[in-house]
Amino acid sequence: STGRSGLAAPISFESVPASRAPVLDAVTVPKGYTAQLFVAWGDPIMSGGRPFIGNAGESAADQARQFGAHNDGMHFFPYAKGDDERHESDDDGRKASSRHGLLCVNNEYTHEEILFPDGQVGAGYTIEKTRKSQAAHGVSIVEARRKGGRHGAWTAKADSRLGRRITANTPVRIAGPAAGHALMQTREFLITDSGSIATGATTDGRSGHGTVNNCAHGYTPWGTYLTCEENWNGNFGGTGAVDTSTATEIGRLNRRYGVTAGGFGYRWHTTDPRWDVSTNPNEPHHFGWVVEIDPYDPKSVPVKRTAMGRFKHESAQVVVDKDQRVAFYMGDDERNEYIYKFVCARRLDRDEPRRNRDMLDHGTLYVARFDADLTGRWIALTPATVGLDGVALRDHPNFAGGDDAQVQARILVKTRMAADAVGATMMDRPEWTGVRPRLHGFDEVEVYCTLTNNNRRGSAAVASANAADGSTAAGSARPAVDAANPRANNLYGHIIRWREADRSVTATTFTWDLFAQAGDTLTTKTPAAQYTGNIVDAPDGSADYGAPDGLWFDPFGRLWVQTDQVGDGTGDFVNIGGNMMVCADPATGVTRRFMTAPNRCEVTGITMTPDGRTLFVGIQHPGEDATSANPTQFSNWPQNQFTLRSDGVTPLPAGRPRSSVVVITKDDGGIIGT
Ligand code: FEO
Ligand code: CA
Ligand code: CA
Ligand code: CA
Repeated sequence: STGRSGLAAPISFESVPASRAPVLDAVTVPKGYTAQLFVAWGDPIMSGGRPFIGNAGESAADQARQFGAHNDGMHFFPYAKGDDERHESDDDGRKASSRHGLLCVNNEYTHEEILFPDGQVGAGYTIEKTRKSQAAHGVSIVEARRKGGRHGAWTAKADSRLGRRITANTPVRIAGPAAGHALMQTREFLITDSGSIATGATTDGRSGHGTVNNCAHGYTPWGTYLTCEENWNGNFGGTGAVDTSTATEIGRLNRRYGVTAGGFGYRWHTTDPRWDVSTNPNEPHHFGWVVEIDPYDPKSVPVKRTAMGRFKHESAQVVVDKDQRVAFYMGDDERNEYIYKFVCARRLDRDEPRRNRDMLDHGTLYVARFDADLTGRWIALTPATVGLDGVALRDHPNFAGGDDAQVQARILVKTRMAADAVGATMMDRPEWTGVRPRLHGFDEVEVYCTLTNNNRRGSAAVASANAADGSTAAGSARPAVDAANPRANNLYGHIIRWREADRSVTATTFTWDLFAQAGDTLTTKTPAAQYTGNIVDAPDGSADYGAPDGLWFDPFGRLWVQTDQVGDGTGDFVNIGGNMMVCADPATGVTRRFMTAPNRCEVTGITMTPDGRTLFVGIQHPGEDATSANPTQFSNWPQNQFTLRSDGVTPLPAGRPRSSVVVITKDDGGIIGT
């Protein structure tokens, strides 16, 4: 049925023009739509929060009650419909409110130059700075309310009792097969505002603190939020030597996951010994997981679900198939890493939702192999699986020792190395996964994944360069092109999709194709086929995009794609312009450009109210790479575009650029995207 539209109503808005250099420092949306500023970094979202100052003068304690930095994936959790909306004329029986809910938003990382008045170094990096940076990471749970009917104003409640911040220091539980393993036993710390104090004890490997680098996300059918830890390795450092020896277990792990003494330049480890890998070498093993959060209970303890594997998680998107079997599809975003799925052991229990509570602790993790004949295989990462070298993982030196439960724990802590061993397909940086709704006669389990770009492919073939012993540093492999990753220098990225055999998430085989290759129709680069892309029904490049990252299906079947490139309209993006969001029909491929975004930001994060009439979209790091001496060097968004927040009363103070969530409505009150 791929020849006809899969949509009840076609995509009929007109594409907005590309925002070419100098990129307009604003959000644009099509005619007939309005974008407003909903919530921004530093806005108070819970009791005791103070309003954003504008000069980054907030303390760590202030930040811990404000919306976090650099928002990424998000999901709207509705409350039940209120009395005021039960009688609405469009009521089709939905019980979920489209006017009141909790917006769960990831806060991926910080620009320390923007976070502090004097930048990162200034008068030295102090524990107060560390605590503020840690408080800006994690998850923000925002109470969202629309007042006054179909055209009413959206408010992010400032003093909400339901609002919550989860940060790098929030107590967490560690569950699933890797919990308690020796690799998970870290130095134990008491965490205080003035420092992290070693107790002298070792944790039992079943509890820890915090979540960081929360990139994209997921949700479960039982009403919980999933936040996914991506570039967590960059938050660690070492005051002394960090083990990167190929002869030790920790050294091989550090090499394969990119844990180094310098990290990404964060200096947390200089004042907080929990993050010092030279003295607390197992702490990184508490990160790289999918974390489950009950948003409706502000006191709930987040749970790290180790059964879903440890890598640089981008997102985790759920499918419940015709047999009520449940799976989550996940990408590991680094050059030449893999695509995974986790299949829960149990069926979904729709009658007793409480029984689903620990479903993510029991199941099988698989990694994908994409073959040239457009079929593929899911390879189970279990002790019995035989690797390319003919040896079962339980006998492989990286995983062997003790019983199969011990082996499985090591497979999960070292997921990347297990995937190497079984010969999975190295991909062009897997970002978000998305699941096409089964609607309008379409009943396949069809999953999409953005492959954002790759400049480490296509020289001498080193298909096994992520050496079977896991000793190769992450990102150093240079595999040849293959059918699923066909560009030698993949500047613009592509979107792959697959269909599970027998429409079952438990299938171990699938068929696949490329939904789109992004590119620049007007490019003069050669060979053109490498660069022009094949965006459907976009004359003169009217919907060209590059570096697809965010990818999401709305409940009506439209595919939304968000981009993440430098975003200043220079270099390979002179024609494509700044970052954007496009909307596509999955059946026909027809694509339109829905949004362009401020200078040097990325567009990431998207969710909708159940009625389809309100769309929330994230704008991350406007003006990236500005210095602390000149924070508005590249962008002064959002206050240059908006004077008031969407609540109509809260003014936006002057100051530095702020990652934000915008709220988009159609002026006629209609469903977004029609
Ligand atoms: Fe945080 Fe892969 O994007
Ligand atoms: Ca991303
Ligand atoms: Ca970016
Ligand atoms: Ca990205």
